[in-house]
Parts: sequence; C-alpha cells; structure tokens
Amino acid sequence: MKERIDEILKYTRDVLESIKTSAECQTLRVETLGKNGKLTQLFRFMKEVPAEKKGEVGAMLNNAKNDIEAMISAKETFLEQAELDREIRSAEKIDITLPSQTCTGSLHPRTIIQHEIEEIFMSMGFVVEDGNEVETEYNNFTAVNVPENHPARDMQDTFWLDNGQVLKTHTSAAQNRILRKYPLPIRAIFPGRCFRNEDTDAGHENTFFQLEGVIVDKDVSVGNLIYFMKEMLSKIFKKEVEVRLRPGFFPFTEPSFEMDVRCPFCDGHGCSTCKQGGWIELCPCGMIHPEVLKNGGIDPEKYSGCAFGLGLDRMTMLSFGINDIRELNSGDLKLLKQFNVKA
Ligand code: DAH
Repeated sequence: MKERIDEILKYTRDVLESIKTSAECQTLRVETLGKNGKLTQLFRFMKEVPAEKKGEVGAMLNNAKNDIEAMISAKETFLEQAELDREIRSAEKIDITLPSQTCTGSLHPRTIIQHEIEEIFMSMGFVVEDGNEVETEYNNFTAVNVPENHPARDMQDTFWLDNGQVLKTHTSAAQNRILRKYPLPIRAIFPGRCFRNEDTDAGHENTFFQLEGVIVDKDVSVGNLIYFMKEMLSKIFKKEVEVRLRPGFFPFTEPSFEMDVRCPFCDGHGCSTCKQGGWIELCPCGMIHPEVLKNGGIDPEKYSGCAFGLGLDRMTMLSFGINDIRELNSGDLKLLKQFNVKA
C-alpha cells in the first residue's frame, strides 16, 4: 500500500511540474482525488486491511490526500495569479498606432482663458513664467512684506508641510524669484495654482488659480497698470472696456487698489452677472512696495513697479458663464465637454 501511495505522490509531482494552466490543475485533481481518482480507489481497499493496521493505513491515505490537495492548490494559485497578470497587462496595453482622431480630450476652460491671456501679454512684451506650488515661507510671506507674526498673515490661512514650507497661497509668492531672475526692466506674468485653508462655496475654493503680473522699470506708474489691464481685458471681452480703481489694502503694494471693469455683458446698465451694479470686481493690484523691490535686489530709489493678481478662475467663470467656482475642479465631463477646444 505504501508503495502505491508513493507512486501516486510521485506521479502527482511529475505531472504538476509540466502543467502550464490552472485548468490542468483541476484535471489532475479529478484524476487523483476525484470519485474514481487514483488515490480514492486505494481508500476502497480499506475494508480488506486487517483491523490492527487500519489506523496506520488510514492515516497514510489521509496524509497523502492532504499532501496532493496542497500541492495541486499551490500550483493552481500560482498559475491563476500569472494568468491574471497576463490578462491585466494585455488589457492595459496602449496601441500607439491608433489614429489621433479617436482621442476626444479638450482643453479645460481655465486653460483656454490662461492661454488667451498669455498670448495677449506676450504680444505686449511680457515673459510667461510659472511658480512652484510648494514654496518657502520666505517667498510666500516675508519676501512680499508679510513678516512673521504680522497680523497680515491671517489674511491667507495656508497648508503647512512638515518641512516648514507651504502650499503657496498666492502667485505673489513667485515675485521675489522673478525680480531676482530677470535683468531690469522686467515685464512678466506668472499663472499658477494656489491653495488656502478655507471653506468652499460657490465663490471660494481651497485650490484655485491666479495669474500675476509684475512690471518694473524706471518711472512706472499707475497709468501703466491701467493701460496693460485695459488692453488685456478689451481683447478678452472683444470690446473696448472701461476700468476703475478703488483703494485696497495689500502688504506688498503701496498704494493698493481693487480694479473693477465696467460690466462687459450689459455695458454697465445692470445685469445678473454684475449683480445690477454695473461694475465687476476683477483684479487686486497696486504699486510694488519698496520693501518688496529691495527684497528682490532692486533699488526702489531708482526703479518702481506695479503688480496685479488676477483671479484666473473668476475670469474663466465670467467668460464662460459658469457660476460656481467648484465646477472648475470637479472634473465633471458634462461641464467640460461644452468647451470642446482641442488641445
Ligand atoms: N496676492 C494677492 C492675493 O492673493 C493678490 C494681489 C494683490 C496680487 C495686489 C498683486 C497685487 O500682485 O499687486 O490676495
């Protein structure tokens, strides 16, 4: 009996070695442990085994049965995993020979507006830069005249990283790097993603986009600021627009302003977009504070500058008639497909 059992065990091992699919494992299982399997048949001899040997032989058979099942199962699991991996790999294969027309991607509305604004500023001699999303505390705050422990830091609650850096709360964080990077005079715009630790609603997002601009030269004045913004807005809204400045406060500009545009949708007569007011608040701006110039290695006695921080999401919402800022980060294809501009 022992020899017979050993033979079946050897047979099982040999077959398992040459097996290539999990289905073959099942065939082997039936062949050895099935109703008429090789080992099952040996169990039938139990009745002929003398009573005093029954315990020993029974144990031998049961052990062999367990061993065979264990061997087959192990191989089966191994092969099943390999088959699954092969399936996944072939499903994920990308056919790079497919014609490009089959791709239906399009530009995000915010990207469309960003590109338009970039084109306009480039045509007026500006360079386009991009800032980091993770910034040093110095660049985000101190360099733009918001020193440590100053109450102005409360205006922009941010996300701190363990290493003491921050997710930038405004594109102004790139000002210092840009002032240091370019020789004077400087005309630069820098769009980018910003983050603030605040609750969201139709007009606020914790992740949003701004487009900042700086102009530094001899004798830069508020007149330059108004000119460039008017040019840009007239091109975006495809008509001559009127802007006005109201006093504002920002630590990095002196004086600081809020720039409004006369509502381009109703020409200032009052509509739902301008909430019947005739003006739309669009862009904080101002003359760059001498401290900020100094921090950027520029002598404020010789040079002056102006800066603005346009809300890119707001511009996008105005241009496309989207009335909830949260839509822009939603990835909602129903919204995005309406602006099917090919990349
Ligand atoms: N960084 C400001 C903010 O996010 C916006 C801003 C205001 C930018 C005035 C400027 C500026 O460049 O001159 O609230």
